[in-house]
Amino acid sequence: MAEKLRIGIIGCGGIAHAHARSYLNFDDVEIVAGADIIPGKARKFLDEFGLSGATAYESHEELCKRDDIDAVSVCTYNSTHAVCTIAALESGKHVLLEKPMTVTLDEAVAIMRAEKKSGKIVTIGFQPRYDVNARMVKDIVSSGKLGKVYYIQTGGGRRRGIPGGTFIERDKAGVGALADIGCYALDFALNTIGYPKPLTVSAMAYDYFGKNPKYYPDAGRFSVDDFSAAFIRLEGDITLDFRMSWAMHMDTTGDFIFLGTDAGLKVRQPNYHLWGGAWDGPIGAITLMHDDESGKPTQTDIPLIQEEKANLFERKVRAFVDAIKTGGPAPIPTSQIIYNQAIIDGIIRSSASREEVKIEIPAI
Ligand SMILES: NC(=O)c1ccc[n+]([C@@H]2O[C@H](COP(=O)([O-])OP(=O)(O)OC[C@H]3O[C@@H](n4cnc5c(N)ncnc54)[C@H](O)[C@@H]3O)[C@@H](O)[C@H]2O)c1
Repeated sequence: MAEKLRIGIIGCGGIAHAHARSYLNFDDVEIVAGADIIPGKARKFLDEFGLSGATAYESHEELCKRDDIDAVSVCTYNSTHAVCTIAALESGKHVLLEKPMTVTLDEAVAIMRAEKKSGKIVTIGFQPRYDVNARMVKDIVSSGKLGKVYYIQTGGGRRRGIPGGTFIERDKAGVGALADIGCYALDFALNTIGYPKPLTVSAMAYDYFGKNPKYYPDAGRFSVDDFSAAFIRLEGDITLDFRMSWAMHMDTTGDFIFLGTDAGLKVRQPNYHLWGGAWDGPIGAITLMHDDESGKPTQTDIPLIQEEKANLFERKVRAFVDAIKTGGPAPIPTSQIIYNQAIIDGIIRSSASREEVKIEIPAI
């Protein structure tokens, strides 16, 4: 490996900018290439960052042919996550893959098989994992204070927050709110309790707002979900009660709650206004619901850890770079996120069939 880690960015749209900004803050990394299928887009993107020495490509295949690139960020829309990640792995590159991991479970399995064969790492881009208060929630649950956790409700959701661009087209995004912001809620829930295996899903997904020009001017282009609810059985007799919305006539679908045999934990978003409450940002309040020494139900507000200038995005990119440099494991491994993806896949299947579906993950 050259002294500086050599990076390529595949997909030079919105989120690629946050990747580039993060890499550029590190002295031990250089961005040497960018690729986008829209002609001229990669060149414009690289020039925006003053990277005139970096090469622009108009396909991920061309970028992957380069054997002097150590790692890539895959920042394409969801439907091309798998093809770009697999091409990068097959050409010997580590991958930081944006969330959600894929659209389908089959694609996620294909990525894991390619990862295993390549000996390289794939990490998935869930930056809220690097929030100190999200980590505190995991620490509280791991400490055993709640006893056995048997039920989790994912609350939040946006009141009016349907994005635009490629997010609303089925051929590009594959899935709507359910995967776009639902994957964050799933990751928060599952990571906090150690990523137990999902077993069954019963779900419904809707598109009443996205398809209605009264609520969404670009309704003609809208072909994904904007609200979904699911009942998910996890290994260990745990229930995961999932709700996620880009739009609804409500400020929130509730708080994020963990019910345990000894105590409960309520986690709130900082605000519930229109775009707020999507579990892709910081935490607003944490409350422990428990009994006092005399057995009387009481509650304790857990003080939030205040951090100055917490750049979660930069932390996720740095964690990827450090894992490559130290030969360490992927910070947010596919072996966990495959369960997140299997649930999303199960929600899509259950909603289409109007029946409960089993989750079966093929051997990798
Ligand atoms: N972590 C976060 O905070 C965060 C925020 C926004 C988006 N995202 C994720 O990032 C991804 C991209 O989102 P975006 O807002 O940047 O979308 P975007 O549409 O702005 O950009 C995607 C780009 O990928 C390009 N592309 C598609 N297939 C390609 C291929 N095979 N080779 C090269 N280029 C290709 C497109 O032409 C487009 O320019 C999505 O998966 C989204 O969920 C993550």
